Amino acid sequence: ASLANLDDTVPGPNRTQDRNKDAAAAPSDGFGNTPDTDPALPENRMWGRAILERIPSSTLGNAAVQAATITDASALNAVLKTAVEHGRAWGALSGAERAAILHRAGDALEARRADLIEVMAAETGKTIDQGDPEVSEAIDFAHFYAERAKDLDAVDGATFVPARVTVVTPPWNFPVAIPAGSTLAALAAGSAVVIKPATQARRSGAVMVEALWEAGVPREVLALVQLGERELGQQLVAHPSVDRVILTGGYETAELFRSFRTDLPLLAETSGKNAIIVTPSADLDLAAKDVVYSAFGHAGQKCSAASLVILVGSAATSKRFHNQLVDAVRSLKVGFPADATVQMGPIIEPAKGKLLNALTTLGEGESWAVKPEKLDADGRLWSPGVRSGVRRGSYFHLTEFFGPVLGVMTAATLEEAIAMTNQIEYGLTSGLHSLDSVEIGTWLETIEAGNLYVNRGITGAIVRRQPFGGWKKSAVGAGGKAGGPNYLMGLGSWVPAEPAP
Ligand code: ALA
Repeated sequence: ASLANLDDTVPGPNRTQDRNKDAAAAPSDGFGNTPDTDPALPENRMWGRAILERIPSSTLGNAAVQAATITDASALNAVLKTAVEHGRAWGALSGAERAAILHRAGDALEARRADLIEVMAAETGKTIDQGDPEVSEAIDFAHFYAERAKDLDAVDGATFVPARVTVVTPPWNFPVAIPAGSTLAALAAGSAVVIKPATQARRSGAVMVEALWEAGVPREVLALVQLGERELGQQLVAHPSVDRVILTGGYETAELFRSFRTDLPLLAETSGKNAIIVTPSADLDLAAKDVVYSAFGHAGQKCSAASLVILVGSAATSKRFHNQLVDAVRSLKVGFPADATVQMGPIIEPAKGKLLNALTTLGEGESWAVKPEKLDADGRLWSPGVRSGVRRGSYFHLTEFFGPVLGVMTAATLEEAIAMTNQIEYGLTSGLHSLDSVEIGTWLETIEAGNLYVNRGITGAIVRRQPFGGWKKSAVGAGGKAGGPNYLMGLGSWVPAEPAP
């Protein structure tokens, strides 16, 4: 049964573009990106308003969560046994057969767009302008990996043997797109999946999984679990039937998983501490806009978010960029997403530890260009902060904080700014704002990060256009980039076909 009360379902938005038309324009791989909902259309604003009204009392996802909590090892073993058994039939389907189901999954996610936006907002505080593109990304993963599943049929002389069971452990901050991407990739490759959504976002994960079940992915092949005991996580990851683990989360979590099992076949997307460099040749207005969006979208709680802006030469000394940045940050309206005028939502839980420190304490030589203020009693609502004078090698320069605080650094030359970026042990996303082709070339050749963006914000990678994956301590284990052409290849192995008699 559907989790949604059908009588109460928000009708679909007006789709101003047609994905299939886009696909027809790119016949080489049969894929076109799904458009986001266009808020310029009055009917879509009505649609958004209907979602906002439901957020405060949303119960979406509750039923599935209650049904699936595993409290002991024998229940966990039973789930894995079922997955292995039913996964064989799933893996024996041709890629084209699996693709047909995955395309239906994309359509089911589209049909649940309003529900998914609602449950993410209710559960994690994600504003609807961030939730809508996240649903588009999940839909893109379904259609893109469906087409890539067909590639697996097409290789002569070798057979692709999928993982038996892939365990998916996604983060809470993209509670639909990331679990959907990992799950759909594994399913496309022919593996059974056991998914454990993040505890803080278990309902969002449940609604996403339910859409896939509705589309025809068997429940035995795609098991949704929550674990009653912490130790069960170790048993799940280390279970001998598990051939792949797809983790998106902190670097320390990847290390922990590795400690559970030394030969763990892990595909992990881990932490980030990302910088945008702005040179004097840049369009400074565009740079300020992109920095603000990259730093404070979803209150900075993205592995891809900008935590530093490094201003080169006269970009640092001219008042222009500074004033644009400060004014734009001060004007951001902070609140909970049920309020349609809110631009930056809450942080996931009351600020503590490293993040609280970053919101309240300055390092040597630093000052607040915009001082963050606690806006509620709990400490979930903070106005965004900008600290100037962040020194090379300082705590703020090198530490990941995952919240709404941006540091400004200055460098004499582009080369120095690149060295400051590369000094960071992570390498997930990185940005350059410059209109000088020599600078762009230098930066592209020397910057150490997985996803590089020139004259664009550094969040919101688009499936196929910007395959997503890190470098250095932003990635652990093997695997291609998510949303890229090679990702499925890491979810099984090729064996030579039997020679013809
Ligand atoms: N894929 C997400 C982004 O690019 C993390 O922002």
